[in-house]
Order: sequence, then C-alpha cells, then structure tokens
Amino acid sequence: MRRCIPVLFAVCLLFLGVSLCPASGKRARDAICPGASWRDTDGHLIQAHGGCILKRGNEYYLFGEDRSRRNQPTRRYVGCYRSTDLVHWHYCGEVVSLKNPDPKLFTNDWILERPKVLYNRYTHQYVMYAHIDGRGYSIARVAVFVSRTVAGHYHYLRNFRPLGHQSRDIGIYQGRHGKAYLLFEDRPTGFRIAELSRNYLRVKRNICLIHQHLEGLGLVHYHGLYYVLGSHLTGWGPNPDVYATAKSLHGPWSAFRNIAPARTNTYDSQSGYLLKIVGTHRTAVIYMGDRWNPGQLWNTRYIWMPLQIGNGRLWLPKPRCWRIDVHTGVLSYPRPAK
Ligand code: GAL
Repeated sequence: MRRCIPVLFAVCLLFLGVSLCPASGKRARDAICPGASWRDTDGHLIQAHGGCILKRGNEYYLFGEDRSRRNQPTRRYVGCYRSTDLVHWHYCGEVVSLKNPDPKLFTNDWILERPKVLYNRYTHQYVMYAHIDGRGYSIARVAVFVSRTVAGHYHYLRNFRPLGHQSRDIGIYQGRHGKAYLLFEDRPTGFRIAELSRNYLRVKRNICLIHQHLEGLGLVHYHGLYYVLGSHLTGWGPNPDVYATAKSLHGPWSAFRNIAPARTNTYDSQSGYLLKIVGTHRTAVIYMGDRWNPGQLWNTRYIWMPLQIGNGRLWLPKPRCWRIDVHTGVLSYPRPAK
C-alpha cells in the first residue's frame, strides 16, 4: 500500500495536469478582459481588428479585419462573429475574402481595413464600407460591399473616393431615423462627416469638415450631444486619443480633449468604434480600440472598456475586466481569472 501512495499521487497529478492545463490556456472567460488574448467559442483567437458591432434582434455581430496566419497572401478578409452577451463569440465565417478587385489601381500589397457594417431598412440589405488602399496608402479610397444576410457573403460592388476626397481610416454612424454617415480621414484637411444616400451605397453630401487630423474615428449620440472620437496619425503606434462634442453633426464642435491620461497613450490602444447599449436601467457606451501588434497583426489585442460619458465629458477608465447585462445595461467588474 505504501508503494501505491506515490503512484496514486503521480496519477492524480497527471490527471489534473491533463484535464486542467490545456483548458486553462484556452478557457473561455466570463468577462471581457481588455488586452488579454481573446478566443471564440471554438478556441481560436478572435480575428476582428479595426472592427464594429451591429445588433440584429438579440444578437450582436462583430465584424473586423481577419489577420489570421492561414490567410492566402493575395486575399483580404473580414471576419464575423455572433454573440448575445459580448463575451462569448461564435465564429460565423469569412464574410469577405476578396482578391485584388482593381489591379490597375492597387499593388500586390493592397490593404482592406476597418470594415464597418450597417443594415438598410429600405433595401433590407447589409452594407459594408471599408478602407481600401495600395502601397504606401496613397490611393485612399473606400470599398463598398452588400449582403442579403448579416453573416452571409458580402459582395464587392466598387471603390471610390467619397465626394472626391482622400479617405483613409473610416468610421460609421447610424442615426435614429435610418440616416447613416461615413466618417473619414481626409489627409490634407482633417476629417469629414458625410451623409450616405438612402440605400447607403453612395456618399451623398458633406455634413462637416473638422480641421483636426484624426483617424480611428468613432461617433455616438448620448443624452442630446454627439461625441466624436479619434486618434492622432501615428500609424500602428498608440497616442493620446481625443474627443469633441456638438449638438449637431454640422457643428460647431468643441475643442478636442484627451480621453485618458496622455502618458498612457490611451492605454496603448487606438480607437476604432463606439458601441451604445441601451438597457432598461442604463445606457452604456463602450470604447472599442485595438492594441496593434504590427509584427504579428493576427495577435493584435482588443481594448474594449465602458466609458464614463455625459454632460459633454468622455473618459476612458483604466482597463480592467468587465461584463454587461445587455438587457439592463448594468455593468459589473469581476476579478480577472488567474
Ligand atoms: C493606422 C491606421 C491603421 C493602419 C495603420 C497602418 O494609422 O489607423 O488602420 O492603417 O495606420 O500603419
């Protein structure tokens, strides 16, 4: 018996090791932990960088750049994920897997970045805008895609410069009455807010030109004010993101202020999207940013955090694990899993 004890002990350790170790690395968390590696319900790293979220019914759809290592080098991909709680994401597939659509215009190292998706209530179509560009980001256009279903194949339509202007990083905003707006960085001057046509397939008219060189643009309407957010132009490297407010999209816009202590460089992240969740108890606005990893873009991390917002002020608190009851809008901050 005495000889059995160490053997039993070793067997137990082995069992514990086998059953716990692989799981702990890939275990789905029960909270959103900014900066942590984030896996989908199949255990793969979530590939939705520079993305956005669209709500349909009770489900949230996350779209973003898929930078997986298995990608074919000639194609550019947009990944799509579905969730009911913003924590657990089910992979729906590549909704865009595009070959260079315009080889005369774009070189081999062309890019498709920052996809943004809207639902059009008149045409019942899903419309995607993305930044499309060539070597050195000198072509500066948008690409437009459409799909009949939210997580279906997005068919490429065309690319163009919105209202003839250069367009690099883009953002999107949908107002309450079905009007939608494209935000885009217009390098010589600043950034613009432009209204889309009724079917969302064209950029119809300029609403506001803001003389501030910003990208990674996000916009939200909260308690009677618009808040626009962006980062300075420092490529993949983070900088202190800023915001401004206005009563109308036409402006006038307030002065820009930092959203976090400047020394943190927005907690090493770059803004990309603002998600508003209107709950029965409260409305939350979530900052969705990227902590880019340019050498390993597939391993870029997500910095998603509820913002402190209201009365013309917007502030990004120090990132920590959180979750939200998407029904009530109530936030909680569980301790991080060890
Ligand atoms: C950033 C931009 C990213 C990507 C990167 C490339 O300024 O926000 O989306 O284009 O530059 O350097």
